[in-house]
Order: sequence, then structure tokens, then C-alpha cells
Amino acid sequence: MVSKLRVLIAYLSYSGNTKEVAEILHRKLDEEGFSVDMHRIGADAPFCPEDYTYIFIGTFTWDRGSTPDEVKDLVLEIGYKPANIAIFGTGDTQFGGDHLFCRAVDRLSRFYHSPWDGLKIEQSPRGSQERKVEKWVEGVLQHDKSFA
Ligand SMILES: Cc1cc2nc3c(=O)[nH]c(=O)nc-3n(C[C@H](O)[C@H](O)[C@H](O)COP(=O)(O)O)c2cc1C
Repeated sequence: MVSKLRVLIAYLSYSGNTKEVAEILHRKLDEEGFSVDMHRIGADAPFCPEDYTYIFIGTFTWDRGSTPDEVKDLVLEIGYKPANIAIFGTGDTQFGGDHLFCRAVDRLSRFYHSPWDGLKIEQSPRGSQERKVEKWVEGVLQHDKSFA
């Protein structure tokens, strides 16, 4: 029997928007044939990054463009920069406009030298933005087949 490739979706969500994006990713990756583990940042036991073909990290943005402390703690916990990290997040342009919109996504993508542009969703992904999430993950899976 051929075992499925494993992917991890680690996310932080206070009011549910980033969780909704994580759930769309989960469904899509499931459909693509991956074995998907969900990790609630700051709540679940540590994971082993080496176990995963792709690691998706999701965060909202806080406090004038800041990355939440729980996500910074996760970065320390991972302890190195895996080459297979893709970043997604939610934000709200009402908190500082385009300049601060989803800044945590930009910061993390840069930190990890992620080969993929980060996914930025305005508030809830429900409706038209759902397709944006699906297209983004399709792009991640196509970008570099050598990970798979
Ligand atoms: C106090 C506060 C500050 C915020 N600051 C920003 C910000 O600087 N940039 C941004 O894009 N969104 C900002 N937001 C919006 C949240 O990132 C957005 O609502 C996000 O979807 C929340 O994610 P969650 O539902 O997964 O918790 C802020 C929200 C609050 C309540």
C-alpha cells in the first residue's frame, strides 16, 4: 500500500477567520490525496517538522501589523527554517490600510524564505474569497514538485 504524503496546517485564530481558511485548505488538501494534520498553535502538543512534505502556517495580524506572540513562540519551537513552509493569514484593511494588512503573513514569509507568496484574506474567506484560497493552494502544490 502506498502511504499518503503528510501535510501540516498550523494556525492561530481568535475569532475564527483564520480557522475557516485552515478548514478550506484542509478540505482541498484532503481532496488532493494528502494526509492532513491540523495543529492549533498555542494549544496542541509540539509537532515534528521533518514529518511533513508541506507545512502551512496561518496567522492573523495584530496590534498595528504585529505577529501574535503564540506564532512567534511556534517559530522558536520549530527552531530552524524548513524549505517547505507556506504562509497564510487573515486581516482587515480597516486597521491601517494596505500598509498593515496581513503584515504577519509578509513577515513570516520573508523569515522562512518561503518559495510561495503568502495568502492574504480579508476577514472571513466565505464567499468569493474561498476560490482564492483554493487557487492559492493549487499554486503551492504545483510550484515545486520536488517537495512531493
Ligand atoms: C486590536 C486589533 C488589531 C488589529 N490589527 C490588524 C492589523 O494591523 N492588520 C490587519 O491586517 N488586521 C488587523 N486586525 C484584524 C484581524 O487580523 C482580523 O480580524 C483577523 O481576521 C482575525 O483573525 P481570527 O478571526 O482568525 O482571530 C486587527 C484586529 C484587532 C481586533
